[in-house]
Amino acid sequence: MKYKSLKDTDDEIFRLLKEEEKRQNSDIPLIPSENFASDAVLKAIGSVFTNKYAEGYSGKRYYKGAVNIDKVESLAIERAKQVFGAYSANVQPYSGSPANAAVYFALAKPFADTILGLELSSGGHLTHGSKVSFSGKLFNSVMFTVKKNGEIDYDEVESLALKHKPKIIWAGTTAYTKLIDYERFRKIADKVGEDTYLVADISHISGLVASNVIPSPVNFVDIITTTTHKDMRGPRGAMIMVTPRGIQKNPSLDKMIDDTVFPFLQGGPHINTIAGIAVALKESESLEFKEYSKQILLNCKALCTSLINRGFELVGGVSETHLTLINLTKDNINGWEFAYALEKAGIIVNASTIPHDENSPFFPSGIRIGTPAATTLCLKEKDMDTIAEFIYQVKLELDTFKFKELSSQKLRKDPNIRKGFINELINSKRIKEIKLETENFMKVYSK
Ligand SMILES: Cc1ncc(COP(=O)(O)O)c(C=O)c1O
Repeated sequence: MKYKSLKDTDDEIFRLLKEEEKRQNSDIPLIPSENFASDAVLKAIGSVFTNKYAEGYSGKRYYKGAVNIDKVESLAIERAKQVFGAYSANVQPYSGSPANAAVYFALAKPFADTILGLELSSGGHLTHGSKVSFSGKLFNSVMFTVKKNGEIDYDEVESLALKHKPKIIWAGTTAYTKLIDYERFRKIADKVGEDTYLVADISHISGLVASNVIPSPVNFVDIITTTTHKDMRGPRGAMIMVTPRGIQKNPSLDKMIDDTVFPFLQGGPHINTIAGIAVALKESESLEFKEYSKQILLNCKALCTSLINRGFELVGGVSETHLTLINLTKDNINGWEFAYALEKAGIIVNASTIPHDENSPFFPSGIRIGTPAATTLCLKEKDMDTIAEFIYQVKLELDTFKFKELSSQKLRKDPNIRKGFINELINSKRIKEIKLETENFMKVYSK
């Protein structure tokens, strides 16, 4: 059977695809959880592997015809174990949130057990116990925070852990600029007792961990979860790994995880994604990838310094990792407004809460900026200074907006009042000029 091309089959999607390619080639990509997968990864995801159903695991499938699929999944597992020093790996979770859900259901009882994680506005992920996610609704979630300097308050972690005796402690972050002290987390978990599992969610930093440019949690935690599409530069997927110390603590831990992923939570694995994960893991072992990871950190430090030099306040100062958070509290703009204006100027970031934020996650007091995607496009430290200048120029233009004087932060959430801001932005000549400048700047770097 011969199918028609995408263009001939569905012109609307084809056109949107082309538009998105153009956008990705002209904007400055600074969302820390995004990246550009390689052609090799894209080829694996968009392959005939998508056609196959393969419920079960290698050698134990509910469907026939899985001979190649077994080999693909086994390769992905072996590579994950090799790259992260894990005892076992499950590569079937559809994404990061289902991976974390599997950990919960494997280890804790809903409506009975307590879990401990980093609070959302301090940089934790929704699945680490936020009350708007299943993790905070089905489990008794207790949250720790960061201190004024942006660092996890380990004393608070310890006192909450000893008081509440959680079944799971999450050592993981989504908007955090410091290295995590896994050893301290381990000591705390050990103090609570044998029933407590320490889980590192390294979704944001797994590429840096794989490259050994930041410390790995593998010797300190029982389980590691990670997405594969952030600084790992793979497809949208996730993995759950049991560490050597995890299997020593509980010899059934790998089977408990496997049984929870399938059949408890999921059906057929996405073999095309698993093939893409295998490719990304192979790529992560190359010298080029290690150099790439080093450059992510250098770029982030350079960007922080350039932003600080232009008067921006960063949570925790110069970042130790791949992302930074601009605290906008003193600037009389919120994260939604600034991210919106930056987008109009061709700079793509996301609005983010900052520690102890009094504003909501939709209109937070900060923006989150990261360097993994820009580094894939070969941008270097000097380019970070240019980007900081673009960001600064957008901020200077916003400072001239009447909208800022007219309304309080609270009123600005009103959609009608927000229209005033959007109108000023659309009519700003300076923002249009900056957009042309960013487009020109990216011409050198686009893929
Ligand atoms: C630390 C962390 N864990 C889990 C996830 C969830 O991943 P997904 O969006 O693939 O469900 C994210 C996503 O941003 C994350 O940052």
